[in-house]
Amino acid sequence: MSEFLSIPVKDLLDENPFVGDFLQSIDVAVSDESVSVLTLLEAYPSDHWEEQGTTFDDVTEQLTTFINCLNSVEGRTTIESLTVLPGFDKSGNAEACLLELIPGEITCVVGPTGSGKSRLLADIEWLANRDTPTKRQVLLNGKPADEDMVNHFGGKLIAQITQNMNFVLDMSVSEFLLMHAQSRLLENAEAVVDEVIALANELSGEQFNPNTPVTFLSGGQSRALMIADVACIGQAPIVLIDEIENAGVNKKKALDLLVNKDKIVLMATHDPLLILLADKRVVIKNGGMHKVIVTNDFEKNYYRELEQLDLQLQKTKEFFRYGNELSANAKIE
Ligand SMILES: Nc1ncnc2c1ncn2[C@@H]1O[C@H](COP(=O)(O)OP(=O)(O)OP(=O)(O)O)[C@@H](O)[C@H]1O
Ligand SMILES: [Mg+2]
Repeated sequence: MSEFLSIPVKDLLDENPFVGDFLQSIDVAVSDESVSVLTLLEAYPSDHWEEQGTTFDDVTEQLTTFINCLNSVEGRTTIESLTVLPGFDKSGNAEACLLELIPGEITCVVGPTGSGKSRLLADIEWLANRDTPTKRQVLLNGKPADEDMVNHFGGKLIAQITQNMNFVLDMSVSEFLLMHAQSRLLENAEAVVDEVIALANELSGEQFNPNTPVTFLSGGQSRALMIADVACIGQAPIVLIDEIENAGVNKKKALDLLVNKDKIVLMATHDPLLILLADKRVVIKNGGMHKVIVTNDFEKNYYRELEQLDLQLQKTKEFFRYGNELSANAKIE
């Protein structure tokens, strides 16, 4: 049961005036401001809820979600840091370092295939509390995450963007985004939806329109849409990305977009361009955090060289993708 339901109604209304509208909408009168909202609701017989087309349980759950949403919209709780305290590698040896993440910074997770990059992301997603195979502990603002903190974000503390994103909904892109924007209580939902679609088209380079059914989107388009959605609509302050290198999205733009919104971004990747774009990287060896390297100036300069090479590679990919043949007369410019 949420803490909000057991504090005096007066305090709840002082903090969240919209709760008054919520109670009014289910025909509940605030007869006594000194009792808890739970006591108020319990005073009504089940007939009352039936008349309202709902049940007591649904109302308490909806009210909790509603308050959490309001709180997250107003951003009362902010995540200032996420810390991963060391556990053990695959051989049971203590990990060599901890990992500290802050908003506005991009951190990459690097290491050979099978080394444990996705595992680290999963530990964060689960807010591990020495209860995963690695025995790591995740701290938010220096403390183990408690339920209140998670509830504060209405279950949207962490957004995940993975290789295999598939939609199963029978909806158009704009319907899907509008539903999401409205559930987040955004006032200018329609304008935001347009912004997300424009951004996603810019990221994927493969155009789709607002009426395209989400199930028709290609893998690259889906990921571009999710990134734009996470950046503009989602309030999740922590974004975990598992390998977007082959996703057909403009990686640099995508990262700029996410970081501009002041999020904590952690990305598992094998892509040297993404690694050099990041502020730092944690190296995983045999399942353990081995060391954290801050991207140095030499590496940042090397990024520019690599960008040119990457551009050449992109052009080459396009050249062959569109059925061209390399010859004395047909070169890749
Ligand atoms: N510290 C650990 N203790 C126990 N098991 C671990 C540990 N770290 C990783 N593993 C396990 O090792 C396996 C491979 O890890 P994971 O999938 O995270 O690798 P990866 O680096 O993401 O690989 P890829 O680059 O192929 O995606 C998984 O089953 C994972 O649960
Ligand atoms: Mg992986």
